[in-house]
Amino acid sequence: MNKNAVLAIAGLMTFSLHVSADDLATQGKQVFTQEAQPSCTICHTLADAGSAGAVGPNLDDLKPTEEQVRMAVTQGVGVMPAFEESLSEEQIKAVAHYVSSVTGGK
Ligand code: HEC
Repeated sequence: MNKNAVLAIAGLMTFSLHVSADDLATQGKQVFTQEAQPSCTICHTLADAGSAGAVGPNLDDLKPTEEQVRMAVTQGVGVMPAFEESLSEEQIKAVAHYVSSVTGGK
């Protein structure tokens, strides 16, 4: 196989991984624990992320839906800041998918 064919196949594999649902959750966990500033972990308890913040509601108990997380992160709620300016739509979608999937919200 020539080098270009190898690169093309590697590219396709990366693409299919990128669109899979599990990858979205993995990406969302990164947003939750690292990419969001301030980090979601400072304020929220979420067992899967190993966080024990107590400023905001415990997400394991709240079990928010994907839409609920998306709204909260985009617009902010109460003292929770809006992340619309600092996170991309894709990052917000990923973190919403992640939180709702690990807590059993839909
Ligand atoms: C500075 C602290 C802080 C940070 C950082 C923060 N939150 Fe919050 N969050 C809160 C507080 C406080 C509330 C409750 C607001 C209220 O109900 O008045 C809340 C509420 C929520 C809710 C519930 C919304 C609803 O519908 O009731 C979700 C879901 C949520 N946060 C997810 C996140 C995610 C995901 C991140 C990271 C991108 C994040 N939060 C970052 C403090 C924070």
